[in-house]
Amino acid sequence: MVHISEEEINNIRKRADIVDIIGGYITLTKKGQDYKCVCPFHDDHSPSMSVSPAKQIYKCFSCGAAGNVFSFVQNYEQVSFVEAIKIVADKVGYQLSGNFDYEKKEKYSLEYEIMDLATKFYQNNLVTKKGLQAQEYLKNRQINQDTINEFQIGLSLDDPATLSELLLKKGYKLQKLIDLGLTNENTSRLSDMFIGRITFPLWDKDGHVIGFSSRIYRNENLPKYINTKETYLFKKGENLFNYHRAKKYAKNKELLIVEGQLDAIRIYSAGVRNVVALMGTALTKSVLDLLKNLRCQIILCLDNDDAGLNATLKNGDILIEAGFEVKVIRLSGSKDPDEYIKEFGVDAFKKNMSSPLSYLDFKISFLKQKYNLNNNEDISLYLNEVLEILNNNNDDIYTELTLNNLSKEFNLSLGTLKNRYNSLKKVENVAKEVFTPSKVVENKLTSLDKVTRKVLYYMMNDAEYIKLYQKKLGYFTDKNYRQIANEIVYFMEKNGYINIADFISYTSLLPINKLVLEISGEDEKLEQGYFLNYLNLIKKKVRENKIRDLKKEMRKEQDVHKKMEMAKEIAEIKKEVL
Ligand code: UTP
Ligand code: MN
Repeated sequence: MVHISEEEINNIRKRADIVDIIGGYITLTKKGQDYKCVCPFHDDHSPSMSVSPAKQIYKCFSCGAAGNVFSFVQNYEQVSFVEAIKIVADKVGYQLSGNFDYEKKEKYSLEYEIMDLATKFYQNNLVTKKGLQAQEYLKNRQINQDTINEFQIGLSLDDPATLSELLLKKGYKLQKLIDLGLTNENTSRLSDMFIGRITFPLWDKDGHVIGFSSRIYRNENLPKYINTKETYLFKKGENLFNYHRAKKYAKNKELLIVEGQLDAIRIYSAGVRNVVALMGTALTKSVLDLLKNLRCQIILCLDNDDAGLNATLKNGDILIEAGFEVKVIRLSGSKDPDEYIKEFGVDAFKKNMSSPLSYLDFKISFLKQKYNLNNNEDISLYLNEVLEILNNNNDDIYTELTLNNLSKEFNLSLGTLKNRYNSLKKVENVAKEVFTPSKVVENKLTSLDKVTRKVLYYMMNDAEYIKLYQKKLGYFTDKNYRQIANEIVYFMEKNGYINIADFISYTSLLPINKLVLEISGEDEKLEQGYFLNYLNLIKKKVRENKIRDLKKEMRKEQDVHKKMEMAKEIAEIKKEVL
């Protein structure tokens, strides 16, 4: 990997006007010196984000998202910092020197190499004599050679350790093979994780093989599937099967989610490319982030049994909660999409895809079946649940239509339904008010945090304040704030200038970056008088804290002499002139 220099990063940033770049994603309107827009990082209805051409940073007043041009692209496109640089460089026509790649790839190149070798080894096994029965199985399942090649389907042999032996012979360390989940740990003899199974590589979002799923193919009384256990490459619940292929087809359009990888393989091979599989896990926060990146609608097409129905409800709720538009397909006549397509053909499947139910319609019809709508108590419960769904949905027209239908269906006055709906809405709004994330964060900040952040904000913007800080304070007691201050001082010494946008880039790969971004959203007019006041406040607060801690210790201390020492120390601290 060619290391991309800070100088180069700063040059790209200078060439990329933040107003142009953000304006390429969302509409900006000029307001005074700055620009305003709807914040893409939370469910924003009024323009809460402000973009400053002077400082080359953005800040959302509602959710607190803040940063420079790279952090915007990084968060908007859900890519790494280095990828964000690439994208911005591309946009402004900057030719990057060298072919640098993003850090994870570099970090795990050895691991990817091993996983690729394992994939090839398995693929090769399938075409040998030992693979005849497995080939027969795949043929019977109507998985043709093109699909086998495309999905790199393979076979792990019946012998206990063919893969491990091969990889050890190539010089890879046993511990590494164990860590990658290819070789069993704590066995008396060397043994492979996957034995006598058809293998399916599992890829991460960028297309690296990070694990395997494996299926029995003979009449054996063994678990149907064995997948790579949790490893440092393969985190269960962080990946979707086929995401790396499907992403470009689903971007800004729709993504089909199915349960099993063989469903996804069938659908993809039949020409419907925007498909991923859950592989038996529920949607997690990481997977939701992957999906958000695509800005697409979701179509859930899970198995045609109770488990599939429940998974549709569970995942549907999660997706709606996360702000997705969700549609549902329930295939009838076969147990899953794989069998459906085999039985009825891909055109019948596509027809289903073209007229999915909205998630709300699906859920309402599901509730209708759940309740016995012949008795009034159940009707009331049913209506309540429907109103709650409408409440979470915020689509006025849909709500109005549904209320009208319900009113007719149950012979209830529209007024009664609307009253009930409105009172639910009120409760909902109060709850939202209390739990908006920015407010929660705000409350957790102590007054010392708040002042310290302001001081750091000043320092990031103007060298004058770095000098004042060094002269008058020079030290924060909090480790993270102290590290930021040290980085600011270091940046200044090395480069001979400071500005907030370049400082953000500079800290992008450091653990404190998140905090730096938060602080960059402080947005204050710089005034020396204020700054000096802040420094004094910090000194006072630190002194108060010290005294408070000493007093606490003193109360616990048994030794009289030590108690005296502490009392003296407190007196000394109180005497110090600030
Ligand atoms: P299914 O049992 O619905 O799989 O489980 P399927 O796709 O229909 O499998 P085939 O058609 O019999 O081959 C759905 C998914 O749950 C995971 C697998 O990823 C599977 O694709 N699973 C299932 C396991 O991890 N272990 C199991 O024992 C079963
Ligand atoms: Mn199946």
